[in-house]
Amino acid sequence: MNKFIIAGNWKLNGNNILISNFIKKLKMFFKTHSIINTIIFIPPIVYINNIKDIIQEKNFFLGAQNVDLNLSGAFTGEISVNMIKDIGVKYVIIGHSERRILHYENNKCIAQKFKILKSKKIIPILCLGENLKEKNFNKSELICRKQIDEIITIVGKNAFQNSIIAYEPIWAIGTGQAADLKYVIKMHKFIKTYISENSNINIHDVIVQYGGSVNENNIEQFFNTNDINGVLLGNSALIYEKFTKIIKITN
Ligand code: G3H
Repeated sequence: MNKFIIAGNWKLNGNNILISNFIKKLKMFFKTHSIINTIIFIPPIVYINNIKDIIQEKNFFLGAQNVDLNLSGAFTGEISVNMIKDIGVKYVIIGHSERRILHYENNKCIAQKFKILKSKKIIPILCLGENLKEKNFNKSELICRKQIDEIITIVGKNAFQNSIIAYEPIWAIGTGQAADLKYVIKMHKFIKTYISENSNINIHDVIVQYGGSVNENNIEQFFNTNDINGVLLGNSALIYEKFTKIIKITN
């Protein structure tokens, strides 16, 4: 049985003082609680120095929110996989709907990022999911299938070994209203089955997190099912009390 994976994506939030204080308190929390889950903290990467005090803690890992396709060269504004690896990053979010929509990243570009991460042994957290219109037209599975297919085509049949998928229905992100548990389970089962039938991985080894308005009040239901292997938190990761309550409930 895999450990429950809690990833906290700070997106474009925080500042020096806020993140330092958060990490100071989190370090104390780690000292006073025995954490068995995997915790991935994903701040804006410029605040990496604020994290260094806690990075040694067992089961605590650093993640990045993005990576470039290229390793080095004239790519102004980008950060390469070698650079993030250099500073201790173990996981990278790719394919987040905010990058797909606001930064026009398509399935091909995301698959190329997936490939470069795997080649450097960084674990991708691949976000998948449909928007509301697609859901209403019963296209949720089709959308996820296309997002998965491109990864298998470009990365190969071993792509999903030692990788994480975050199923994030776009319509549930940042709304305060998480998707219905039954619906999430149905989608997770679909994703796990589809990946195991189309690539080289046993269904029980496909790791799928849920993301979209998870908080301290609804986490228990997502934790209490074997089909959900963790959560990708946005807003709830920004507040120390909420974040640690979620860790405690799932520990
Ligand atoms: O990366 C995190 C997800 O987009 C979820 O964000 O918890 O604020 O809905 P949220």
